[in-house]
Amino acid sequence: MSLTTQSLSNKVQKLATQVGNTPIRKLWLTPQRFIYMKEEGKNPAGSIKDRPALNMLLHAILNGEVTQGTVIAESTSGNTGIGLAWVCHELGLEYHNYSPSSLSGQKRDILADFGAHLFFSEGGTDDATKMLKAKIEEDPNFYFWVSQFTNDNNWRAHLDHTAPEVLRQVPHVQEVWVAFGSGGTSTGFAHALKNTGVKLQVVQNTLLREQRVEGMRNLAWISKPPIADLDAIGQDNMYNTDPETLIDLAERIYQYNDGFIVGPTTAAVITQAERSQAKDLVVVSADNGSRYLDWAKQISGAVELAAPADEPLELLV
Ligand SMILES: Cc1ncc(COP(=O)(O)O)c(C=O)c1O
Repeated sequence: MSLTTQSLSNKVQKLATQVGNTPIRKLWLTPQRFIYMKEEGKNPAGSIKDRPALNMLLHAILNGEVTQGTVIAESTSGNTGIGLAWVCHELGLEYHNYSPSSLSGQKRDILADFGAHLFFSEGGTDDATKMLKAKIEEDPNFYFWVSQFTNDNNWRAHLDHTAPEVLRQVPHVQEVWVAFGSGGTSTGFAHALKNTGVKLQVVQNTLLREQRVEGMRNLAWISKPPIADLDAIGQDNMYNTDPETLIDLAERIYQYNDGFIVGPTTAAVITQAERSQAKDLVVVSADNGSRYLDWAKQISGAVELAAPADEPLELLV
């Protein structure tokens, strides 16, 4: 290993001490009923995606694919880009983010604060990917394309870290509920929960693409992401988000939890988790509502806070 690779790998391993080990909170759905929520919004750049971002770059550095001069690139309209921008900023690497021009102003600002170079395509994320591929073909040795949909170090971050943390923090857990996007979280948990007796439950986006929630996908309207292991996840424990109950649920959570605003994908997962009969269930919350200004305004503007529940938000670390 060259000296510069050694120094990059030391830096990235140091960063790993700042990612993960997120808290679990009791989240009240009614004054009588709570679920456990793993609060991934507490990661340094604000979402669960900091974990795969770090893990994908860590392995690329260790196997020599990324050196100090490499430009890191990804096509994403969301949290993965922010996680990568943060890691690259900390490591002194250049990061190029390709996204649709619909990317929110808030996310543009966060990416820019981390020094990301922003490139925009017409159309959706697929068009941004095409644009990035064309760029890479011009100069293949210049870029490392992170490619979260095909990179096994995406789901392995959850196998090695997120899932073991949940099992340690809530030893009596019966079900774990996660969202489906790239399939990273669900595939990692599926492998980690095998033979533990803990059931994995996975929530996809709504079937109605026009009402979709940012960050999630539905296999009815996309082809299977290559890393998503549907045999390991199981098909009979995949549910669709109910868009009709989404806002009401987020408002209820705000009301019974001292004004805590869940992110849209967390609300989407809870539209289904709430129907479970399991006594102890954990919802893996990918990020907090503060990342979505319009959503947060809508929820906090709509409801009065109720008196705090008997037990306040409790942190289990
Ligand atoms: C807010 C949010 N929730 C859920 C997910 C889905 O996670 P995964 O890609 O691990 O399936 C993502 C992915 O980008 C996300 O940004």
